[in-house]
Order: sequence, then structure tokens, then C-alpha cells
Amino acid sequence: MTTITKNLTNTPKALPPSDQLGFGQHFSDHMFVAKYTEGKGWSEASVVPYGPLSLDPGASVFHYGQALFEGMKAFRKESGEVVFFRPEFNYHRLAEGAARLCLEAPPMDLFMEGLHQVVAADERWIPKGPNTSLYIRPTLIGSEPFLGVRPSRETLFFILLSPVGSYYSEGTKPIKIWTEEKYLRAAPGGLGAVKAGANYASSLKAALEAKKKGYAQVLWLDVEHQGIEEVGTMNVFFVFDNEIVTPALNGSILSGGTRDAILQLLRSKNLPVVERRITITEVVDRLAKGELKEAFGTGTAAVISPVGVLHYQGKDWTINNNENGPLSTQLYNEITAIQRGAQADTLNWLVPL
Ligand code: COI
Repeated sequence: MTTITKNLTNTPKALPPSDQLGFGQHFSDHMFVAKYTEGKGWSEASVVPYGPLSLDPGASVFHYGQALFEGMKAFRKESGEVVFFRPEFNYHRLAEGAARLCLEAPPMDLFMEGLHQVVAADERWIPKGPNTSLYIRPTLIGSEPFLGVRPSRETLFFILLSPVGSYYSEGTKPIKIWTEEKYLRAAPGGLGAVKAGANYASSLKAALEAKKKGYAQVLWLDVEHQGIEEVGTMNVFFVFDNEIVTPALNGSILSGGTRDAILQLLRSKNLPVVERRITITEVVDRLAKGELKEAFGTGTAAVISPVGVLHYQGKDWTINNNENGPLSTQLYNEITAIQRGAQADTLNWLVPL
């Protein structure tokens, strides 16, 4: 494997107070970087002080958006032990996304070793408070300076670390969602199924307009403005009286790590969960009949975010009295208890540092 060098900082920063972290506002002392060059392979793998990258302004990332990232977390268990949550899931998704974006994915051993070394260097940055964790952002960008439109022959891989609290200022309280019928997040054959920066760029305008109308995020529909795809930056689950439904991965929905963990957890309890196409018309019809008990988003950042109000075509529908529902509360408690070592890791999700 490519050798990893270490250049540790002489000026470590003061840690932010762990009860005021917010999301993604603080970065640790170090980062991991490595570079791929066609014909040469991976080189310059190192843990270095966190700071600006030096990039040529002609780099493909700036012009044609060749950028892909992952979101994952490390936790300090109650015993003090540090664990990663399902890092192999993130590695495989990164590798698949890299192929779609014509970037070079690092080999798995370089990804894992870089991850372990940078987190080990910044172990003191893993917060201990309730609902906190170390959010990890592995990123790939096209760094070759060249203005022709073709895949970059250089890929830069870096891993950033950010101690985080809740993603939404509402914490785990239910949020208001606007069903988006003007903008699309993704379309069949596009980038929706991979964690491309471009998907988030295309989501910003809709989220901004929803916010102006008093909604925290949007419900994304498919190109027919019918099939439900995602909620904000998260996957979505609907809890009906006889089944729990999440949209099937159709090529434009991101295969979320928390979505997958929740499917595993629900199936391990023999609960009736199905992955299928679900339309906004079905959801609203079943809301009107009183059959929709809960709806919630799932993602690495927020874990679970209940939907308290869903707006569709001029009407605000309240779900579960705009309160935290029993299933989303139970799933949130179980996943976070497993992450903290307070509940047995029976599904083998944790990997020690
Ligand atoms: C997540 O839910 O983890 C996300 O994808 C949000 C992230 C882009 C901040």
C-alpha cells in the first residue's frame, strides 16, 4: 500500500464546547490527503495540519464539477473506545460513485488506513456529549488543470473531520416539509444515486425557496412529479397502519447508510417494511384516511428527522399531531444506543479505531 506520512501540527486548536457544536462548523487539527495521477498511481498520502489546499484554478472540479463525497461518523462509546459506523458501506458507495463521475477511487486499504490514521491523530476531537459525534467527510475531486471536457487524469482524495451535534436546529423535533413540484433533485440516468456535490448544488434553490415559505426542507419527487424520492438531503420512510414504506432505489435515489441500517433493524424485528415506489398521491390519500402514522427522514447527519407537517398543493397536512412518533423515536434511540455502546451491536455495524 502507498506509505502514509505524518506531519502533525505544533499549534493544536482549542476544542469547541461540545454542547454548542451545531453541524459542520468546526474542523479538527488534521486532514488526510492523497493524490492519484494516471500512469503513476496513488502518492503523497499524508496526515497533515488542517488547512487550505493548493489547487490550480484550471482544475476540473472548478469547471465541470467532478466532485464526490461521503458522510460517515465516529463515536466515543461510553467505555471510551472509539468506533466507526459501517465504514465499509461508505467505502463501497464512494467507489461506485467515483466510477460514475470518472474519478479514481482510492483502494480500500488506503481509504481505511487514511481514515484510521487521521482519526487517531485527532481522537481528542471526538465529542462526548449526548447526540454528538465526529462527522467524517471523505472527498474526491478532479484536480487536473485542463479545460477540455473529459475526465480528469488526477484525483485528489481528502478526509476532513468535524465534531458535530444536531444537524437541524430543531434537533430531533418534527420538521415542516414542502412538496417540491418546480425543481427536481435528480432524474433517471443522472447523478442522483451517487453522492456527487452536483446533487447538493441542484438542491439549494428549492431548499431556499421552501425556507422562505416557512418549511425546513423539501420532499423531492421524480420527473413525473409523482414518485417520492427523498426528503431534503435524506431518505424517507412512511409508517402506515399495515406497512412501513421507503422508496425503492430506482437509480436516482441515494442508497443511504442510515436507510440501510434502518431496513436491517426493522427486518431483524420482523416488522413489515417494504421498498417500493410510493407516490405523493398515495401518501395524501392515506393521510386523508388517517392511515399514515409517521413519516421521517434518515441520514448520517441527523440520523432520523420526523416530518411533522407535509405541504402538498396548497394544503398543510399534519402527521402524528406534529409530535415525535413511537417508531422514529425507538429507531433513533436504538441506533444511537448501538453507536454509543449502550446497546449490543448485534448487526455488526461498529468497527473499532
Ligand atoms: C446526511 O443526511 O447525512 C447528508 O447527506 C447530509 C449531508 C450532506 C450534510
